[in-house]
Amino acid sequence: MNRQIKLAVAGCTGKMGRLVVQEIMAAPDLLLTAGSTRVGSPYSDKDVGELIGSKPIGINITSAPQTLFKEADCVIDFSHPYALTEHLDLAVLYGKPMVVAVTGLTEDHKRQMLEASPKCPLLYAPNTSLGITLLLSLVEQVARALPDSFDVDVVEIHHRHKKDAPSGTSLALGQAIKKGKEGQNYADYYYPLPAQELRPTSTIGYSVSRSGGFPGDHSVVFASEGEVIELKHRSFNRQIYAQGALKAARWLIHQQPGLYSMKDVLAK
Ligand SMILES: NC(=O)c1ccc[n+]([C@@H]2O[C@H](COP(=O)([O-])OP(=O)(O)OC[C@H]3O[C@@H](n4cnc5c(N)ncnc54)[C@H](OP(=O)(O)O)[C@@H]3O)[C@@H](O)[C@H]2O)c1
Repeated sequence: MNRQIKLAVAGCTGKMGRLVVQEIMAAPDLLLTAGSTRVGSPYSDKDVGELIGSKPIGINITSAPQTLFKEADCVIDFSHPYALTEHLDLAVLYGKPMVVAVTGLTEDHKRQMLEASPKCPLLYAPNTSLGITLLLSLVEQVARALPDSFDVDVVEIHHRHKKDAPSGTSLALGQAIKKGKEGQNYADYYYPLPAQELRPTSTIGYSVSRSGGFPGDHSVVFASEGEVIELKHRSFNRQIYAQGALKAARWLIHQQPGLYSMKDVLAK
């Protein structure tokens, strides 16, 4: 067998981080080299194996992010937006590829990724599922084909613990719609609609629900007064995001410095 790909996981103590660790440990071609958490976390210095309920593997969870970058061929970041600036600085310093899977990024974060990208391969994936990657292409295509007599809405529902709204995926769907409507100046519109007001034209309406344990439902609804086209994605579990992130990492380690997306991974 070829040499195993060494991966490190930022935010390995979280819901997604734990799944990524499990998937890495189950994959013969991958080797976990480090996992991180925030400074002061009760998980600091605990063994990563024990974290996921298996036997110790001799890797202690670190709160020093440079540990992630020293040995790994690629870092997967499922931590928190506030850690991104430091992670990007380290990716540049060590010249290491990084999959940025955190959501809720600001415009400043996006600018920082762009600035770092000539020095290391970066893949920004607010949604690492293969189904959503395909949905983004389909939505762009439909938005391009339909006249502006069709209103466009992005509708999402996620579990009650999700903090950012709209989701990174909803915003990415909005970007795909704008790409399809290029030159037509579609603006974002966040419901609820104030009483007595009509929906403004040439807008993308965003609706957000938070409820129970939904892993993530996204729909894009194109509606005229006579018909409706609805493109919908539903995830049944979070493993799809972990598996997509690993697919992205396997691809990214072979790329030149630059800023990539999941679309590039599927286009290979
Ligand atoms: N790209 C995708 O497809 C996708 C899919 C699902 C989720 N996400 C995004 O991925 C992120 C994590 O999601 P989640 O559901 O796993 O959230 P979560 O359960 O809150 O996990 C985040 C983890 O990161 C830890 N953390 C906080 N600051 C850190 C730091 N500076 N360094 C390292 N670790 C740190 C947190 O520790 P404490 O809890 O102790 O603070 C927590 O264990 C969110 O932004 C989420 O929206 C992306």
